[in-house]
Amino acid sequence: MSAAHSVITIDGPAASGKSSIARLVAQRLGRTYVNTGNMYRAMTWAVLQSGADPQDAAAVRAAAADIVIESPVFDGKTQVRISGHTPTDAELNSDPVNRAVSLVASIAEVRDRLVADQRALAAIGPLVMEGRDIGSVVFPDSPHKIYIDASEEVRASRRGAQGLSDQIAERDRIDKQRKNSPLIIPKGAIVIDNSHITLDQAVDQVIAALQLT
Ligand code: CDP
Ligand code: CDP
Repeated sequence: MSAAHSVITIDGPAASGKSSIARLVAQRLGRTYVNTGNMYRAMTWAVLQSGADPQDAAAVRAAAADIVIESPVFDGKTQVRISGHTPTDAELNSDPVNRAVSLVASIAEVRDRLVADQRALAAIGPLVMEGRDIGSVVFPDSPHKIYIDASEEVRASRRGAQGLSDQIAERDRIDKQRKNSPLIIPKGAIVIDNSHITLDQAVDQVIAALQLT
């Protein structure tokens, strides 16, 4: 196995701005961007396609065991391919996926598989990886950890402005309270609240906070 490259970890609650910030930080630093939420969303989309009830953990486990997930790199970022199909953004961000994803993501067997895939991605080159447990569980030894926050009102209004209906408070509740890898501020992470700053200002603050040499 090739040596692992360095990983900048970015975690935070739903609609806090993580993906936009992580993508721009990766572009500026010439790193590959990995959106791990899309891996959980793609797995959830495929579980729903199989007809399994997301409330039924045993059925989700059985369905997930048959699903093949890959993360090829295109244009500076990983894509998610699921059993040979590349789900569209509309599929990944659909209402049924928004409603079911935190349930699917709370299942240990699903997390174990995706965490192993995420760790393996560090062999391809320096990464900016974004999600919920990247600094706490996936790469706990990274010296470059960021936690992106924003108030609940700002997050709800940003998601609404994207034209998406999304139960973000409910997803946050499940993500923070689950037993397996709950959303926390990782040890050693720098917290950046971007409720009242622009995307560009948030990216500047992240890059300054990282103190990369
Ligand atoms: O973009 P948004 O913040 O709304 O969500 P996302 O990052 O696409 O993640 C969707 C869901 O996947 C989250 O609500 C979590 O339940 C789960 N997830 C996780 O458990 N661990 C991660 N590293 C990333 C996402
Ligand atoms: O990945 P996550 O769900 O945390 O958030 P996102 O999808 O990156 O951001 C949600 C929306 O907020 C996007 O339309 C961003 O452009 C916007 N945003 C903003 O207007 N100002 C910021 N400081 C951060 C994000």
